[in-house]
Amino acid sequence: MEETARITINGQTHEFPVITGTENEKAIDISTLRNKTSYITLDSGFGNTAACTSAVTFLDGEQGILRYRGIPIEQLAERSTFIETSYLLITGELPTRKQLEKFAASFTKHASLPKEMLNFFAGYPAAGHPMGLLSAMVCSLAGYYPELLKTEPSGEEIELMAAQLLSKVRTISAYTHRKSVNKPLIPPRDDLKYIPNFLHMMFSTPKKEYKIEQAVVDALQTLLILHADHEQNCSTSTVRLVGSSWANLYASVSAGVCALWGPLHGGANQEVVFMLEEIQKEKGNIQKFIDKAKDPDSNYRLMGFGHRVYKNYDPRAKIIKQRAHELLNTLGIQDPLLDIAVRLEEAVLKDDYFKERKLYPNVDFYSGLIYKAIGIPAVMFPVMFAIGRMPGWIAHWKEMKADPKTKIGRPRQIYVGQKQRDYVPIQQRKGQ
Ligand code: ACO
Repeated sequence: MEETARITINGQTHEFPVITGTENEKAIDISTLRNKTSYITLDSGFGNTAACTSAVTFLDGEQGILRYRGIPIEQLAERSTFIETSYLLITGELPTRKQLEKFAASFTKHASLPKEMLNFFAGYPAAGHPMGLLSAMVCSLAGYYPELLKTEPSGEEIELMAAQLLSKVRTISAYTHRKSVNKPLIPPRDDLKYIPNFLHMMFSTPKKEYKIEQAVVDALQTLLILHADHEQNCSTSTVRLVGSSWANLYASVSAGVCALWGPLHGGANQEVVFMLEEIQKEKGNIQKFIDKAKDPDSNYRLMGFGHRVYKNYDPRAKIIKQRAHELLNTLGIQDPLLDIAVRLEEAVLKDDYFKERKLYPNVDFYSGLIYKAIGIPAVMFPVMFAIGRMPGWIAHWKEMKADPKTKIGRPRQIYVGQKQRDYVPIQQRKGQ
């Protein structure tokens, strides 16, 4: 029998269909609610509201499960590459060798930026946050590739745009770093793969090539894969919402970069390192910070803890924590911040306040320590997140475009402002 849900308003009962996802997730489809009842629903922060159906990523926050296109992220982090995972997310299937070679070849072809675009970097203040520059650069790509701005691009055109965007975002990101440290821009090399090429553009100088360590490449590979998608988070929902107005891919993804920048989302990774440094300055007094986070009169939060959907250990954080230990060991780096992070996590996991609220370390808690060990400055951490999240944003934009049920995103509101009143000329207003 088909499952239904009933809502009774003022004694009148209305029936709504229940839809069931592949993993038995249930939703009451209230799309006819307003027509049937003239009522709307209120769900601040969308904690109970699905905005779409999606086949990209499955997440079970209670059990700490995350799968891209059905494949557990643990397997992808262990065995895949960022490029292959990107292909999987965007097209829905793992590539054949030939498909992967073709996809990777377009990365090489599209790695450089148009020459005129480099002027933007010159004009941006070195102290300005790199996320501002990244967002502007991604959006401005639309001006350079008008031929790709079709309202209904074909699958092949989207694949080309995806490879071009993923490749250029890596170059833009490295250049935002070079700009922020006032160093000359280093062009990409055709002979290097995705991550080595990024490291080369970040750290080589006109006179000296950066020495690429395999351990660093492996750690970044894992991080980018683990950041590649996370279903309807704040930035991905932003990309879908902007794209729902038929805005082009570059504009939609650029809005995603802005949403990601916030410290409650992808900006948390840089805040974690600032917090750990603060704790270090306070002679490692972890309890002081825990108490501040628990104080009901303070807005302070322990950065890198808590998640809207994980009420269990974030499976990505588990892998990243292990990777952080491995990389620091391999590189022979003793970072006191890692010890502080481990002690903070232990203390938090024992504390009733955090236990009751099911607050665990999230993806941002240990990732910054890996970036720091590689020599990437804290302001660049959200940019690293954006490079990783790019395939997810593209996959969702593509899915949203292909879904015949997509409508322009337009939430409603409950108006709580003034009732109608008359305009008063300035001379007659109070206080004149
Ligand atoms: N430190 C202390 N208390 C916290 C924290 C934290 N990091 N996170 C949540 N809480 C508390 C809240 O104060 C609230 O307490 P209350 O019930 O007494 O009012 C309760 O836990 C529930 O918190 P909400 O804000 O309602 O949870 P929400 O799902 O809206 O927020 C969020 C999730 C934004 C991630 C939150 O946990 C947070 O601010 N964390 C710190 C920032 C962070 O690490 N962000 C990265 C998230 S991962 C990502 O986006 C990539």
